[in-house]
Amino acid sequence: MATTISDSLALVAGGTGGLGRAVSVAFLQAGAKVCVTYRKQEELDALRQAAGAHDSGLEGYPVDVTDEHSVHHLVDTIVERHGHLDVLVNTVGGYVGGIKLWELEPKIFDQMLALNLRSAYALSRAVVPVMWQQRKGAIVNVAAKAALQHAAGEAAYAASKAAAVAMIDSLAADLAGSGVRVNTVLPSIIDTAANRTAMPKADFAKWPRPADIARVIVFLCSEDASVIHGAAIPVYGGG
Ligand SMILES: NC(=O)c1ccc[n+]([C@@H]2O[C@H](COP(=O)([O-])OP(=O)(O)OC[C@H]3O[C@@H](n4cnc5c(N)ncnc54)[C@H](OP(=O)(O)O)[C@@H]3O)[C@@H](O)[C@H]2O)c1
Repeated sequence: MATTISDSLALVAGGTGGLGRAVSVAFLQAGAKVCVTYRKQEELDALRQAAGAHDSGLEGYPVDVTDEHSVHHLVDTIVERHGHLDVLVNTVGGYVGGIKLWELEPKIFDQMLALNLRSAYALSRAVVPVMWQQRKGAIVNVAAKAALQHAAGEAAYAASKAAAVAMIDSLAADLAGSGVRVNTVLPSIIDTAANRTAMPKADFAKWPRPADIARVIVFLCSEDASVIHGAAIPVYGGG
């Protein structure tokens, strides 16, 4: 069982995405082995490229993390292969905004709950028993500033992120004294390629970069953060 990040096995769900890729690379650079879920082969290839010399520590699994059966199978496979699982970071999520609640289709509402809440439930449900048995582990779920500040047109997104914060907070209480720590980070707009394309006139310098948030997540999973449990940490940047 790992005692430092460099000995750790980390599962990064959505680990090829805008933030996920930076999180995966940060763990790899810290010496951890990293298993990512991915959906598109080209995104996994891009992550391998970004990992450079560290790519031998990377494994990709094409898994829908909103599907409980698939997530259990994934975690069983990882534990069978490596014998331990020390870190879970969930970066899977989705955004829908600019739609008033009464115009919001039930399908979209369900999709927000699936991506932003059910993903964290399914992943935690599969991973926590492994960590509980190890008496050691760290989980970080990525929610959003919108969990606390509920703008117009974001009812489903804000509700799903707020529910994820509450769920992880309750999980932290479940795990008190277990050696397994659970925390949430709350990004505002991140400087991803997708956001630059969607908001070309914005001042990108004001947005935190994925690598800056990734460093906070690695810290939260490290021994240096052993006293941080049940926190929801804003990572808005100073802009
Ligand atoms: N970007 C922001 O400004 C911002 C702000 C606040 C909070 N956040 C939160 O931060 C997290 C990361 O955001 P991001 O911008 O990095 O998002 P992203 O680029 O869309 O990355 C999410 C990754 O998860 C994958 N994914 C989607 N559904 C999945 C599923 N059912 N099973 C497995 N993987 C799935 C996506 O694949 P596909 O590409 O194939 O969909 C993508 O690779 C999310 O929770 C998001 O809500 C982001």
